[in-house]
Amino acid sequence: MTSEMTLREKILLCEGESFWHTKANDTAGIDSIMLCDGPHGLRKQAAAADMLGINESVPATCFPTAAATGCSWDEELLTEIGTALGEEARAEGVAVLLGPGVNIKRDPTCGRNFEYFSEDPYLAGKLAAAHIRGVESTGTASSLKHFAANSQEYKRFSSDSVMDERTLREIYLTGFEIAVKEGSPSTVMCAYNKLNGVHCSDNKMLLTDILRSEWGFDGLVMTDWGAMSDRIAAFKAGCDLNMPGGSDYMLRETMEAVERGELLESDIDRSVGRVIALAKKKQAPVPCDMEAHYALARKAAAESAVLLKNDGILPVSDKSGVVFFGKMAKEPRYQGAGSSHINPYRLISACDAAPDVKYAEDVSEARSAKICVVFAGLTDEYESEGFDRDNMKMPPEQVALIEAVAAENTNTVVVLSCGSAVECPWADKVRAILFVGLPGEAGGDAICDLLFGRANPCGKLAESWPLSYEDALTSGYYAHGKKDAHYREGVYVGYRYYMSAGVPVRWEFGYGLSFTSFEYSDLKVDGKTVSCTIKNTGSVAGKEIAELYIEPPRGDFYRPTRELRDFRKVYLEPGEAKIISFELSDRAFALWNDGWQIPGGEYGILIAASSEDVRLRGTIIRPGSTSAAPKTPDWYFALKGKPTHADFEALLGRKIPEKPLKKGEFTMENTVAEMRNHSLMMKIMYSAVEGTVAKGFGGKKDYSNPEFRMMMASAADASMSAMKINGAMKNYVLDGMLAIANGHPLRGIRLMLKK
Ligand code: GLC
Repeated sequence: MTSEMTLREKILLCEGESFWHTKANDTAGIDSIMLCDGPHGLRKQAAAADMLGINESVPATCFPTAAATGCSWDEELLTEIGTALGEEARAEGVAVLLGPGVNIKRDPTCGRNFEYFSEDPYLAGKLAAAHIRGVESTGTASSLKHFAANSQEYKRFSSDSVMDERTLREIYLTGFEIAVKEGSPSTVMCAYNKLNGVHCSDNKMLLTDILRSEWGFDGLVMTDWGAMSDRIAAFKAGCDLNMPGGSDYMLRETMEAVERGELLESDIDRSVGRVIALAKKKQAPVPCDMEAHYALARKAAAESAVLLKNDGILPVSDKSGVVFFGKMAKEPRYQGAGSSHINPYRLISACDAAPDVKYAEDVSEARSAKICVVFAGLTDEYESEGFDRDNMKMPPEQVALIEAVAAENTNTVVVLSCGSAVECPWADKVRAILFVGLPGEAGGDAICDLLFGRANPCGKLAESWPLSYEDALTSGYYAHGKKDAHYREGVYVGYRYYMSAGVPVRWEFGYGLSFTSFEYSDLKVDGKTVSCTIKNTGSVAGKEIAELYIEPPRGDFYRPTRELRDFRKVYLEPGEAKIISFELSDRAFALWNDGWQIPGGEYGILIAASSEDVRLRGTIIRPGSTSAAPKTPDWYFALKGKPTHADFEALLGRKIPEKPLKKGEFTMENTVAEMRNHSLMMKIMYSAVEGTVAKGFGGKKDYSNPEFRMMMASAADASMSAMKINGAMKNYVLDGMLAIANGHPLRGIRLMLKK
């Protein structure tokens, strides 16, 4: 088939037709197919298209985001959600649903943490795989994203994720590996950033050697929207589809590279074959049951909620005398801002779900209430795709409301809606705290089901909640003005750091309460088979998540004191007991040392109710099989203070070259935002971009508006080459501007005038 296509035709087939569609091709016998976001709901834009969730999309079920479902630890639930998502995509004639996102919550302030499952790659990978199995079961293709190491929003289009290979393998690839091997996604989306200096779109090690040759992925790799760097290198690397379409990006250069023998036509044919195969997978639309999906969204939100504190005030048996406080009781924060933002089929607030419960605008009603429930959390301007949070603080007015109500009435409960951990200095002043993440369209119903005892909370935190952002290891050097991401912390992410360094947290990874209680007993460790008994010792039915951690022997390799290796979620009636069992693979004991290796010694096998709450402990002796441990700076063993740049370079085994911004040395990698302080041309360009974006917001340059900030980040913080792909400006105009910015005005003007 490809033999009947011209080279030009083949190259163009590997780029989209428009923002959301691929190209049809008569020779190949394929139709154009539609790709749409997102990970927790279908965002199909029938009219104006964008990648930031700004223009309207068709109504779709808004499920809880991954920050919530990550706390469910429930693979079956994620498969049910994925199935519903796939059904809605299919019903709308959408062939590919862009998600799930499985990037690791490296730092609690990452703007997109709401879209990601966990700080732990095993938990993230298992839930992502379950989501993918659901979507793919309906005939809709999924797109595992963002591959890889896309762990900050700041300058995401041009940032370089720099890390050692062990950290990459153990922390930032393992989630993708599990999702690929156990989910079999039809597609993978490569990230905007570079990985150790090479753009993910051009990265053969990532897209072919690891993804395909090692993990067995046989689908299509597409770029994130505007993530293509060098189309020639990308064909060689195994990056098949450039999205969005419409720019003919590097068409001439690619054809010349084939003619000069610098690019094999067979590399292009390989990608063409994958584009054709994906298009041919598309299934005919079938209707789906939106009411059933609403019920599922309600169940999912209830299953994902985490009871962080409860002295017995919950569940409330008698609603009379309960008063709701806080704007979020009426106008819920139920999803995140950005490309995942959808138009919910139905949105139910807590006040909608409990019309018989009084709502108070202020605290005058607090004193007389029997129980006060304050709805609080983070609002869109605090966390979003496109930018990171500055810290972990909640909006001051919401902290003030919580404290004012608690001061008036000791019977105060807080319902917390946010996409990532927040500081909770008020926690000791209230009697119960229910964290619901971003709970989706049915969040109001689910919250009332939990508050009034129709459901029993069973979620457990999928990320650590430090007491303050300063306690987070990365807080001294993460994003916040630093373009390149130096993963100095290595494998010490989340609980791997807090527990190893003995830093106390407010609530630990894997923590969550229930309205009942559970007893763990009868641990048996037989070879790699581990089993134990879990019993419901309370008076109401409930689900318990039992977590299995390994505790490696100390030795020549630095290692976290404990790491999650498996988990089980079990439903138990009051008094009921069940035996659960685990099969531990060799990988459960391995670390990466230029290959997966198992240091010999005695490993602790911990069965726990949280990463800190160990209920049963056993051991397994493993024979050693490792090559020599690399020389490693002391910090990675002692964990005293924070790692320095020198520690990091020693861990890497190389110096990290400084990349000063210098007039005359600007490239298509640089952004308008970076160059505007070094070039009048770019300063003018930046204010022109600001003015253009502001037009969409009533002419106001409103940086307090998350959508404005996202638009500015994607317009002015995108590399000049990404601007070529997004069709922002003609290629030759951008070439000319870069020449002028580099101090060659005449050459620049000649380029800009060239047709
Ligand atoms: C965005 C996001 C990606 C999304 C795509 C299309 O920039 O990074 O997750 O699927 O573009 O909207």
